[in-house]
Amino acid sequence: MRTQVGIVGAGPSGLLLSHLLALRGIDSVVVDIRSRAYCEARQRAGVLEDGSVKLLREAGLAHRLDAEGIEHGGIYLQFAGERHHIDFRDLAGGRTVTVYAQTEVVKDLIARRLADGGALEFEVSDTTVTGLDSSRPRLGYTAVDGARHDIECDVIAGCDGFHGICRPSFPPGAATVWERDYPYAWLGILAEVPPSTDELIYAHSSEGFALHSLRGPSISRLYVQVAPGERVENWPDDRIWQALQRRFALPGWNLQEGPVLDKSITPMRSFVSAPMRYGRLFLAGDAAHIVPPTGAKGLNLALADVTVLADALAGLLRGHERLADAYSAACLARVWRSTHFSWWMTSMLHRSPSGDPMEEQLQLAQLRYVTTSRAAATSLAENYVGYPPLR
Ligand code: FAD
Ligand code: PHB
Repeated sequence: MRTQVGIVGAGPSGLLLSHLLALRGIDSVVVDIRSRAYCEARQRAGVLEDGSVKLLREAGLAHRLDAEGIEHGGIYLQFAGERHHIDFRDLAGGRTVTVYAQTEVVKDLIARRLADGGALEFEVSDTTVTGLDSSRPRLGYTAVDGARHDIECDVIAGCDGFHGICRPSFPPGAATVWERDYPYAWLGILAEVPPSTDELIYAHSSEGFALHSLRGPSISRLYVQVAPGERVENWPDDRIWQALQRRFALPGWNLQEGPVLDKSITPMRSFVSAPMRYGRLFLAGDAAHIVPPTGAKGLNLALADVTVLADALAGLLRGHERLADAYSAACLARVWRSTHFSWWMTSMLHRSPSGDPMEEQLQLAQLRYVTTSRAAATSLAENYVGYPPLR
């Protein structure tokens, strides 16, 4: 078997790359260890930057996004018993973000790849990538029916997330890693209740951070800061709602409660591995970098990486190395900006486990500054809505 680009991972990065390559007449095979249903239901991101929406639209993937995505012109920051609005339209030149769940982006991408006759293989096992130094690397995997496949490729794209096999396939010393683990985690719930807010609320409180997001007119998405080793079993629904009620409390405002449909805990980590290429293996998305979710950047970075990669690979397959050689540096500039922004938002909003009173006062001073200085609010707004056009 042969393909031009072997793609490991059917998350947003692998699927979008496969589609962007198909638009350029390049064939690919996408493999994933999970089932299609699992990939489509995995609860994760919810916020698309302005540039990500434009990119999906240009790629012909925004039919449902345009109908069902909810445009948001700002966020609320809550602290010290006050709630302040940061107005992106005003501060970031009319730009906005769109609430459209990653589950929906993935469903749209899978449906489109299958409609276009794309090769997607779910529930594979024992994925291997070999021959990375050669011009004919190989993608190996065992298909769901037990048959072993060994595909000769021109290039392999490692889009297999943080726990995938591609990044560890770099030889020792071929990449440098920067990493920070935060001393807290997020417990996220999906609840069957209309959102109690028109825009996302990021709340700082003496008990810890909370975020009110949404998935649609009748589904809310909420998060509470918990300890890093925390287990969901320790958080029955009423404990979660009580924590949310206290952290969002504001006179004259009510948080509506409803049945909890999904519950999970996410660790918080900043991680960058560079360069994002070794020989004929190119990494994209969470396989190369992780940001804590506070800045809503991870999915957007994944989409940005593969947009750059699709052009780089189209050049490489025609014998032009320039864009492929520039790929890693081009992506890392955006990755480090988002890494800084996500770290900054995270540090400003979470309670340190030691309850350090000095740190709390510094956070409150920063929140006060961001909500009273137009310059500071503009900096938050332009980072949140995203960076200059992807193409
Ligand atoms: P993934 O989505 O992780 O996909 C990788 C795929 O590779 C998976 O399907 C996996 O099964 C597959 N795979 C793994 N190993 C193998 C193997 N050996 N062989 C074959 N396949 C393999 N980002 C935002 O932009 N905005 C947000 O609001 C936001 N909120 C978030 C909230 C939470 C709770 C979490 C957890 C994340 C959030 N993110 C957010 C981050 C975002 O979800 C990720 O950055 C995004 O999923 C990255 O996409 P990806 O395709 O690179 O990786
Ligand atoms: C989400 O809706 O899941 C979400 C929104 C904003 C974030 C993180 C997650 O910063």
